[in-house]
Amino acid sequence: MGRQFFVGGNFKMNPVTREQKNALVKVLNDADIDTNVEVVIAPPALYLIPLKETLRKEIQVAAQNSYFKTSGAFTGEISPAQLVDAGIPYVILGHSERRTLFHETSELVADKTRAAIDAGLRVILCVGETLAEREAERTKAVVDAQLAPVVAALTPADWDKVVVAYEPVWAIGTGKVASAAQAQAAHKDIRAFLAGAVSPAVAESTRIIYGGSVTAANCKELGGQPDVDGFLVGGASLKPEFVDIINTKR
Ligand code: G3H
Repeated sequence: MGRQFFVGGNFKMNPVTREQKNALVKVLNDADIDTNVEVVIAPPALYLIPLKETLRKEIQVAAQNSYFKTSGAFTGEISPAQLVDAGIPYVILGHSERRTLFHETSELVADKTRAAIDAGLRVILCVGETLAEREAERTKAVVDAQLAPVVAALTPADWDKVVVAYEPVWAIGTGKVASAAQAQAAHKDIRAFLAGAVSPAVAESTRIIYGGSVTAANCKELGGQPDVDGFLVGGASLKPEFVDIINTKR
């Protein structure tokens, strides 16, 4: 079976008011969207349950982070078990903002991924290189090194719970989108890494989505690449053009 196109909207720490949040929900609920696409919205944690309760049923909800413990004295954290209990199916892990601003290592991301899958969550696992790493031609080495601890932590069967998001750091929130050729090359490399490190079957079936300045204007060319299975959208997911990105394949 082919890989189902996947479009995620990562709201990050937006919007600031419930009124704005309700307006975003209304746009999505009123839109004509391609029902062949898996659509997942990741709002701030306090909007997870309200979004789950008010969004149309075809659109799923994701947390932007979760910890690797089930409960306990971990102020500020959310556990995978709590998300599952609340009916939240997905979590984003390893986003570059968490790696950079909150000093998350690839080993911590692997522990969180293991715990999330054990609890019953699906994971949007983010990887990607900085501009300096790309200019030093280290993109594949960096991304492989980010994936390796996750490969070590998961069984091959776990990978059907994972969507890999390739997000070059230099493209996130900058308006400098990767070219279709750059995205395709990186996705092909990730698939090759998974083929060698996990299995050819897992490489073939795992969705690899692109994130970094995706807009309605560039989504069709990016989404037309053979190894680009969808998008993780930041800024544009807060705008009506997100509907056009969901409908990339129409
Ligand atoms: O998770 C989403 C990415 O960080 C992309 O953000 O679309 O604002 O560049 P952006």
